Amino acid sequence: MKRLGILISGRGSNMMALADAVRERRIPQAEIALVVSNAATAAGIERARGRSIPAVVLDHRGKTREEHDRAVAAELERCGVDLVCLAGYMRLLSPWFIRRYEHRVVNIHPSLLPAFPGLDAQKQAFDYGVKFTGCTVHLVDEELDHGPIVKQAVVAVEPDDSVETLSARILREEHKLYPQAVALLLSGRYRIEGRRVVEM
Ligand code: GAR
Repeated sequence: MKRLGILISGRGSNMMALADAVRERRIPQAEIALVVSNAATAAGIERARGRSIPAVVLDHRGKTREEHDRAVAAELERCGVDLVCLAGYMRLLSPWFIRRYEHRVVNIHPSLLPAFPGLDAQKQAFDYGVKFTGCTVHLVDEELDHGPIVKQAVVAVEPDDSVETLSARILREEHKLYPQAVALLLSGRYRIEGRRVVEM
């Protein structure tokens, strides 16, 4: 059984999509060992507890980035986590954390990276006037929204879209893509060649 740790900061819809996929065995032989939020107000915490998933709040305030990450890692280790999934976790990870979990931290981002990293990616893409955008699941390295790409999904921008309707369609794709990417990573049927994640 592989154990997932999920880090969130907000509503946690991607976390719930992973929980659904675990329950329905679309992510086989896995369980969610722990959800960690850096924000006490994160709606995702209550949603996790509603599913009887262990969930803790670790407030980052008043600590250095590494101090906070060490506290998070201690919880993840206590729960025997194999793979760390960032799901709307709005904090940069320290180099210390990245080294400790090298190639074992994965993130989802609502654009086709390397386009539109950072905050409000859907709005950035919409305002730029792209015809296609989407979402990306990638391994996490020390740069923001940057590591090797595991999977991407494309979403077309429709003429009558607003940022809200476009974001909602991207989110639906996120909820499909993230479980597929996590299932691949847990299966071990891939290798990393430089920036390339090659499925085997
Ligand atoms: C998602 O759209 C996710 O892709 C994005 O935050 C949202 C979290 O929603 N993440 C980033 O922008 C990371 N750079 P959720 O809490 O409902 O999963």
